Amino acid sequence: MTQRYTITTPIYYVNGAPHVGHAYTSVAADVIARWHRLDGHDVFFLTGTDEHGQKVEQAALAAGVDPQDFVDRVSADFRDMARAMNVSFDDFIRTTEPRHFRACAALWRRLREDGHIYLGAYEGWYATRDESFYGEDELVLRPDGTRVAPSGAPVEWVTEPSYFFRLSAWQDRLLAFYDANPDFIGPPGRRNEVLSFVRQGLKDLSISRTSFRWGVPVPDDPDHVIYVWWDALVNYITALGYPDQDGPLWRFWPADLHLVGKEIIRFHAVFWPAFLMAADIELPCRVFANGWWTADGEKMSKSIGNVVEPRALAAEFGVDAVRYFLLREVPFGGDGDFSRRALISRLNAELANGLGNLAQRTLPQIARNCGGRLPSRGEVTTEDRALLAQADALVDTLRGLIDRQALHEALEEVWKVVRAGNAYIDHQAPWALRKTDPERMATVLRVLADVLRQVATVLQPFMPDSMGRLLDQLGVPAADRTFAALAVVLEAGLALPAPHGIFPRHVEAAAAGTG
Ligand code: MSP
Repeated sequence: MTQRYTITTPIYYVNGAPHVGHAYTSVAADVIARWHRLDGHDVFFLTGTDEHGQKVEQAALAAGVDPQDFVDRVSADFRDMARAMNVSFDDFIRTTEPRHFRACAALWRRLREDGHIYLGAYEGWYATRDESFYGEDELVLRPDGTRVAPSGAPVEWVTEPSYFFRLSAWQDRLLAFYDANPDFIGPPGRRNEVLSFVRQGLKDLSISRTSFRWGVPVPDDPDHVIYVWWDALVNYITALGYPDQDGPLWRFWPADLHLVGKEIIRFHAVFWPAFLMAADIELPCRVFANGWWTADGEKMSKSIGNVVEPRALAAEFGVDAVRYFLLREVPFGGDGDFSRRALISRLNAELANGLGNLAQRTLPQIARNCGGRLPSRGEVTTEDRALLAQADALVDTLRGLIDRQALHEALEEVWKVVRAGNAYIDHQAPWALRKTDPERMATVLRVLADVLRQVATVLQPFMPDSMGRLLDQLGVPAADRTFAALAVVLEAGLALPAPHGIFPRHVEAAAAGTG
């Protein structure tokens, strides 16, 4: 039976426009989803928008729009951003959809009937900006004497009747689960953070609000709406048809990977597993947290005016260059800083001069000197063999790295081969062999074509469009671009399309001529 693979992004709040931070998690998830598809797996890739809560209600009010109209508009914008970044989701869930209300109600009732949810009263600190409750001891004292959430968000004292989830009952079982599943949380720093949070003791979690209306109503108690984080987490099973655990999509549960930002690890690695355990539903296999992007060294914010818009970048530099930059610039899991300079430098050095150059030094020579047909490999030398072996090993090496979400290392492994390929062509100098030893020239160019094919095949998840174009130029049929198809040797003599460059160098208009 085909192995299945389920991956999710967080669902994005629709209180503001999408920016590069949102694109980041989605692009990373897309790379992993595409990787598994090319590896022959049956993939379910879920993303979407988180449309409830006070923050969204306030944003709609501020815009003078009805909340539903507001969320329709912003959600469509997130979907458009995902499309523009070439994010190949299988489903885009919206928490305002009827299917989601149905799933929430079913899960709520189940937990309530089994005594995991009870009615009490909430008193405590709430930060609307984070949609999060904080303990007294978590608040941070500012120099002006006010106390704020650890994120810097203002907090208010809230007193209201509330339903609670009996989170305190799950502390030991959660710790036992982390212990038995050391790979459940990545990277390791986040795991430690979660462990120490849980070890400190878990308090019951307030999961309903009565002070505003924009949410999923609590079943049988319409004065309450469900706390936005409770509702949001349920999206992952709504999309798989919950409560129809006999339905066609349920086979995609449990998720193999929830990809999330570092600030929301607690919700995914503590609260969500506890809800699921209480409902007797299997737990996801892994939660991995990516880091945060700043822009030119500063936190991105509307007030500073430094919010980086991913679609504008894609329009200027090409979507693949942006995808590549985001995943190459920082180790996945760590924080990064975005700057145009850094993007342009990677685009020029690694894409144009590195991979682009390797293709540009190979394909036009095949076009000119081999009659535009894929040459045959004659006798191979030790050097040929070494380069081919390095390229052939990529799929297996990358598979291991992608399983650990080490996306930056995966790219580094590919670039080792790109650099080796460029060194090989310098050394072999096929252009000089044209007159002296055309057979050897053909072999060298064929070795390079085969290396490029390996490289382009494994890079498809990262840069789907441009690697598609490179594989076109290499004569690889669309149906033979999976990892398994790498075993199919292309026949010598195959007519190749006319070559054209895939990564033009970028020259900054203002800086043109200054190097
Ligand atoms: N709605 C919740 C998630 C619910 S999941 C059941 C939420 N939404 S969010 O829109 O605020 O954030 C969504 C994702 O975007 C998070 O993973 C977050 O880390 C990511 N990013 C938002 N800004 C970011 C940066 N500046 N840099 C990197 N990622 C950031 O939280």
